[in-house]
Amino acid sequence: MKVLIHDDAESAIEHTAQLIAARLRRQPDAVLGLATGGTMEAVYARLIAAHRAGEVSFAKARSFNLDEYVGLPPDHPMSYWAYMRQHLFDHVDMAPGAAALPRGDAADPETEAASYEEAIVAAGDIGLQLLGLGANGHIGFNEPTSSLASLTRIKTLTRGTREANARYFDDPAEVPRLAITMGIGTILRADEVLLLAYGAGKADAAAAMIEGPLSAACPASALQMHRKATVVLDQAAAAKLA
Ligand code: F6R
Repeated sequence: MKVLIHDDAESAIEHTAQLIAARLRRQPDAVLGLATGGTMEAVYARLIAAHRAGEVSFAKARSFNLDEYVGLPPDHPMSYWAYMRQHLFDHVDMAPGAAALPRGDAADPETEAASYEEAIVAAGDIGLQLLGLGANGHIGFNEPTSSLASLTRIKTLTRGTREANARYFDDPAEVPRLAITMGIGTILRADEVLLLAYGAGKADAAAAMIEGPLSAACPASALQMHRKATVVLDQAAAAKLA
């Protein structure tokens, strides 16, 4: 695991965006694994700026998002589909149909999860997987105690994760309890993994991910097993490293 510690969040974000753009320049038809959440908003803003400056194109790329809330259709304003349109897809040149997220409103979410996993395999697996880090060490919605070999499936969100995500909903009671998420095994098959975390709220999880034992208690510690994982932190998120 390569750990890059930047002085501040701005610089960590900029570096992450540059690594994604570099992969797309090297491999224009890359299969990207994308994440949502507050961490990624500034990364996507920089990629949009790079696209507008003619520095990066998504025209040949494909993408699979990590996760989606069960019960939310793609046009629901709090769905991850809506997030991705707002923060990236509507502003870059991705081809229609090239982006995939699990369907939160699928009649049978378990079948949807299995088909999503099959679609990732059929695409040749993820080339570059972008990840944020939950304060409890989750990646995707693989909450603590998730199997380190798990594939795309339904997960129950912990109370802490629902509270963290309640900021996006008018009423905290509206935060879904279930999500479809790529598994840790799915993520580990990616050719390259790039995790970004900044801010003091991520310091405990970052230390457990990097220096803690490999354990389902900290799902992100599974990245210790990945051959090409890069973790980008700011000083605040790195504060609890030895
Ligand atoms: C998002 C996702 C989550 C977030 C994590 C951090 O698709 O899978 O694992 O990356 O919860 O969220 P933020 O960035 O909001 O702190």
